[in-house]
Amino acid sequence: MNRRRRIYEGKAKILYEGPEPGTLIQHFKDDATAFNAKKHEIIDGKGVLNNRISEYIFNNLNAMGIPTHFIRRMNMREQLIREVEIIPLEVVVRNVAAGSIAKRLGLEEGTQLPRSIIEFYYKNDELEDPLVAEEHVTAFGWANPQELDDIMALAIRVNDFLSGLFLGVGIRLVDFKIECGRLFEGDMMRIVVADEISPDSCRLWDIETNDKLDKDRFRRDMGGMLEAYQEVAKRLGILNEND
Ligand code: C5P
Repeated sequence: MNRRRRIYEGKAKILYEGPEPGTLIQHFKDDATAFNAKKHEIIDGKGVLNNRISEYIFNNLNAMGIPTHFIRRMNMREQLIREVEIIPLEVVVRNVAAGSIAKRLGLEEGTQLPRSIIEFYYKNDELEDPLVAEEHVTAFGWANPQELDDIMALAIRVNDFLSGLFLGVGIRLVDFKIECGRLFEGDMMRIVVADEISPDSCRLWDIETNDKLDKDRFRRDMGGMLEAYQEVAKRLGILNEND
């Protein structure tokens, strides 16, 4: 029985009221969805892996002074987080052409981009998360210019950290998505990294073979999604070789 108050249910996660004011519990489900939930499957154990991988990444970000909503993992599927006001943007950083940018601009997948590129998508299921420009972000007030600067600075720092982390374990960070939120502490407000960072929200390719170790295995019906996520966890030292 779960008597906790459910605050929000998304495609892959549920947010519950936390034990103290200003906290929430983020619960990782096994649901895999793609193409705005037109494709949906349950992948047993995915939530457990994403909880662990995201915990590992957010702990490292916190330790490096990159502010996040993460406090600590509570159990196999849940983590304690700070309540933030989510900014309605998906912030995507790309190092290598793949996915929607490859299609939109006619680039061959795997082409190194001239430099890392930050894109913004407006989080709106009905509109299927359209790509928007910085002008739209500030004109519609989704974030003010200072907040937008802070978001871009965070995105670049996360990209630098994650690229190095994955390179160290033989993985190329092709692209990833983060979400940011406003964390209010007394009179202070700062922008922090929220949501999750996991193989659901990153493109991760084996450096030698270019094997996909991420959600594209599900999107493209390649199979072996759970095994790929386990491989990422093992390389990061989260799971033992025999897990
Ligand atoms: O599909 P697209 O190429 O735009 O995705 C870029 C990156 O953002 C990928 O790593 C993908 O996993 C992530 N993403 C996400 N959630 C979305 C859209 C994209 O995590 N709703």
